[in-house]
Amino acid sequence: MDKRVIPLLDVRQAPQALRARVPAHTVAPTGLLLDRLGRPLTDLRISVTDRFNFRCSYCMPKEVFDKDYPYLPHRDLLSFEEITRVARLFAAHGVRKLRLTGGEPLLRKNIENLVEQLAQLRTVDGQPLDLTLTTNGSLLARKAQALKAAGLQRVTVSLDGLDDAVFRRMNDVDFPVERVLEGLAAAREAGLGPIKVNMVVKRGTNEHEILPMARYFRGSGVVLRFIEYMDVGATNGWRMDEVLPSADVVRRIDQEFPLVPLEATAPGETAQRWAYADADGRPDPALGEIGVISSVTQAFCHDCSRARLSTEGQLYLCLFASGGHDLRPLLREGASDADIASAIGHIWQGRADRYSELRSERGPDSAAAPGARRVEMSYIGG
Ligand code: GTP
Ligand code: 5AD
Ligand code: SF4
Repeated sequence: MDKRVIPLLDVRQAPQALRARVPAHTVAPTGLLLDRLGRPLTDLRISVTDRFNFRCSYCMPKEVFDKDYPYLPHRDLLSFEEITRVARLFAAHGVRKLRLTGGEPLLRKNIENLVEQLAQLRTVDGQPLDLTLTTNGSLLARKAQALKAAGLQRVTVSLDGLDDAVFRRMNDVDFPVERVLEGLAAAREAGLGPIKVNMVVKRGTNEHEILPMARYFRGSGVVLRFIEYMDVGATNGWRMDEVLPSADVVRRIDQEFPLVPLEATAPGETAQRWAYADADGRPDPALGEIGVISSVTQAFCHDCSRARLSTEGQLYLCLFASGGHDLRPLLREGASDADIASAIGHIWQGRADRYSELRSERGPDSAAAPGARRVEMSYIGG
C-alpha cells in the first residue's frame, strides 16, 4: 500500500457519533429488548484497549497504525467499574454473552480484575453470563491461569496459519506461530474451553493454510473457524477478489475429511457448523467440528443480536457503523442506572442496521467506498 495516499483516519471522532441521551419516555429493562427489525439484544462485545501488538494487514495495517498513531490516553478509557456497571445494565436488558476484545485485550493492565468483576454478573434468570475473550494468543501463556481463576470461561484465539513464514508476514511484526501454540496449550491446561481458533482466509495470502490448519486441529478439541475476509473499516484496502467463499473452504476440507452439517446451537450464531464424519457418515464427536463465518457471501444480519462497546464508551450497533452513541458522559456526569438503562434501550429500539445484507443486495462494489468513514475493527473489536 502506498503510504502517501492513506489518510490518517481517526474514526474515533466520526462526525456521526452521538452523545447518548436519556429518552423522554423510560425504557425499563425487562430482559427482552427488540430493535426495529425485531432482533433481541443478547450479546455485548466490549473493547478494553485500542492497543495491539500485531499489525495484520486486514485489520491494523502498519502504514496507518505506525509509531505516530495517537492511541487513546488512559483517562479516556472506561474504567473497570464503568465497564462493569454498563455490562450489568446490558444484562438487565437481556444480554447473556460478554466478549472482551480490543485491540488486544490482554494488553490492558490487570485485565483479570475486570474479568473478576464481570464474572459476578447474572442474566435476568440468574445464570452467570457466557464470559469469553478474543485474543491473538501472544500473552496467553502468561495469563491463562490468572484469567481462569478470575472467572473467564473460554477464549477464542486468532491464528491465520501454521506456516511460520506466512504467519510472520501476516502479523507483520515477525511473531512466531510457536508462541501462539504455547498460548493455546496454556489455555487448554487452564480449562479455558471450549477453545475456538479463528482464521481469516485471504485468497492468495493464506488459503494454502486451510488444510494444514484443519489437519492440525481435527480431533484436538479445538473448534477451528474460517472467516471470510470482510470489508470492515476503511484501511485494509479490501477487494472482493481476495475473499475466498466459505463454500470453497468446506469443499476443500470435505475432499480430504468428509464433513456433515450440524444444527446451529443458538439463534444469531455467526458460524455455520460442520462435523467431521465417521466411517458411516455421521458426526464423530472424537474428531470434532469446524465452523465457517460467511459474512460476505451469506450475510447473517437478519438475526444479529450483537452490540459493541468501544474502549471509551461509544456504543456501536453494527460492525460497519460510521458512528457510535457516546455513553461515557452519562457515566461520568451522574446519570442513574435507570437513566443509562433507558438510554441503552432507546438506542437499541431505534436500530435497523444490516450492513452485510445490504452489501450483498447491492453487490460487492457498494463495499469499502474509498474514503468511507467507518469504524475500524481494531477499535471496536471483532
Ligand atoms: P462464539 O460465541 O464463540 O461462537 O463467538 P462469535 O462467533 O459470536 O464471535 P467471534 O468474535 O469469534 O466472531 C468471529 C468473527 O466473526 C469475528 O472476528 C468477525 O470476523 C465475524 N463477526 C462476528 N460478529 C459479527 C457481526 O456481527 N457481523 C459481521 N459481519 N461479522 C461478525
Ligand atoms: N475480516 C474478517 N475478520 C476480521 N477480523 C479483523 N479484521 C477482519 C476482517 N477484515 C477478526 C478476525 C480476527 C480478529 C482479530 O478480528 O476474527 O481473528
Ligand atoms: Fe450485525 Fe452489522 Fe454484522 Fe449485519 S453487518 S451481522 S447488522 S454487525
